[in-house]
Amino acid sequence: MSPRTNLAPRRMIPGSTRKFDILVIGSGAAGLTLALRAAPFASVGLLSKSSLEQGATFYAQGGIAAVLDDSDSLESHVEDTITVGGGLCHREMVEHVVGNSAAAVRWLVEQGVPFSTLPGATVRRGGSNDADIDLSSLHLAQEGAHSHRRIIHATDATGKAVFQTLHRRANENPTIHFMEGCTALDLVVHEPGGGASRRCSGVYVLDDATRRVSAIEARFVVLATGGASKAYLYTTNPDSASGDGIAMAWRAGCRVANMEFNQFHPTCLFHPHARSFLITEAMRGEGARLELPDGARFMEQFDSRGELASRDVVARAIDHETKRLGEDCVYLNIAHRPAELVRERFPNIHRRCLELGIDITRERIPVVPAAHYTCGGVMVNRDGETDIENLYAVGETTFSGLHGANRIASNSLSECFVIAFSAADSIGRKIGDTDFAGPAPGWPDSRAESGDDILISHNWDELRRCMWDYVGIVRSDGRLRRAERRLEMLREEIHEHFQSYRISRDMLELRNLALVAGLIVRSAGLRKESRGLHFNLDHPNLLPEAADTVLAPPEHADLLEF
Ligand code: FAD
Ligand code: SIN
Repeated sequence: MSPRTNLAPRRMIPGSTRKFDILVIGSGAAGLTLALRAAPFASVGLLSKSSLEQGATFYAQGGIAAVLDDSDSLESHVEDTITVGGGLCHREMVEHVVGNSAAAVRWLVEQGVPFSTLPGATVRRGGSNDADIDLSSLHLAQEGAHSHRRIIHATDATGKAVFQTLHRRANENPTIHFMEGCTALDLVVHEPGGGASRRCSGVYVLDDATRRVSAIEARFVVLATGGASKAYLYTTNPDSASGDGIAMAWRAGCRVANMEFNQFHPTCLFHPHARSFLITEAMRGEGARLELPDGARFMEQFDSRGELASRDVVARAIDHETKRLGEDCVYLNIAHRPAELVRERFPNIHRRCLELGIDITRERIPVVPAAHYTCGGVMVNRDGETDIENLYAVGETTFSGLHGANRIASNSLSECFVIAFSAADSIGRKIGDTDFAGPAPGWPDSRAESGDDILISHNWDELRRCMWDYVGIVRSDGRLRRAERRLEMLREEIHEHFQSYRISRDMLELRNLALVAGLIVRSAGLRKESRGLHFNLDHPNLLPEAADTVLAPPEHADLLEF
């Protein structure tokens, strides 16, 4: 399906080159796009804490939402986004992203992404003239709560195709330098005094191989670190989703918003040997039905859109039915569609399920909801600017106002590309007037002894279980209070560990997750209503006024030490 790319990175140890015009933290859709867009005018360092492909982007299945069909319209995509967003979408941001999504798809085609086309059609791609690319031959899929077919995809492995293409392009680019196996630990922020703004001028980085920390200087730093769904025991996300960017930005003094809106995808495969494998919503778009163990369909009782209702509705319905019946899972059934269509449209899901003993052309797929997407994050404007000068953030780590209280399917990748474009343009406008701020103070790394791995892994487990049990799909004031108390204790232990022992990536991720979990619980406690993804049994109704939950570090000093 997608061309093979040479994934071998040009690895650069931090310390060998210590200065870049732009330092991008994260090699997913957002980070790679920004790097490629900025490469013509800047040297770019691109950090990734594990292997380059280990972000949510690589695993994205369904696709990218954009208006390409004549019968569709930007207004319709804007309205669908806002309806799902439960009164909290920022219209100007929705219009910005939706309005530029087709241009993003065009750029991706130009980079060479092998999107699925209509039968027999081809798209000219890979460095051809923009104007020559005819997007009308792309196949458009259907996903929940979209009133038109508008999902551009590469069969059921869109993220892999996007990652491999952008990575190949970046690897060919002499001004982009990859640093794999390097974990950003904290931001370097200059306090100039005299009333001048605080300015980000670099990043402290842990080299995972040597466990040494050093600083990398940059004129601009970009957080493209993805979301925080690893805060939950069951998730569709890879291990990288530990909220590092949100935690680093918070510790540096940035506001975060709407952290209570954690999206649970309704259909994660329920199988002991494949805990995080997603079954794309596009399968329901092709007619797959949700069924109880006895074969009865149930979605119509919850929403007239049935299986294609928005994710919050479908996930809550599944949660309700499994609890009511005392069952572990429900079933997704596409066996009534022609086997050939299923195999062609969902080749990766078909293959993976077959490896696990499920032939989806004949059998039902056991599914459960799992944490999938972080709607809140670091507050940014449409250019990706944060509260700190020269610190940008793009992608899932941000709160841009696009998603509101619930994200409609396939708008996340569109946001990654569109805001990365705007951020690169914004940096391009400023770079001529921006010097390096000077070297960072050394990291006080005197801790020689390694920590206790058992304590770390038990803390991980406890934290994620606590979030799953008390801050999940259905919440209550009592559950949130219990989570707050448990997390406070965990944070104390983790903080002590962090202060006393030599730093490791596991420890850094745990420290960040503990902070981000604290931000989620604090935000959830402040919202005295049920809206979008946040459902609280003690406040089941909507308040008349829709308002974002904005947290500023000085007002939550207890969450700052981490
Ligand atoms: P990511 O792709 O998650 O990349 C984050 C990067 O940051 C990684 O390289 C990671 O290693 C790096 N990183 C993190 N912390 C550090 C640190 N401290 N130091 C150094 N590096 C760090 N959305 C859609 O729109 N359509 C879909 O079809 C779709 N399908 C999905 C399917 C799955 C299974 C999942 C999990 C998500 C899906 N989503 C989809 C959501 C979407 O994929 C993500 O929101 C999007 O890819 C996020 O991109 P990103 O660049 O912001 O972050
Ligand atoms: C999916 O393919 O169901 C995921 C799409 C998304 O998260 O937007």
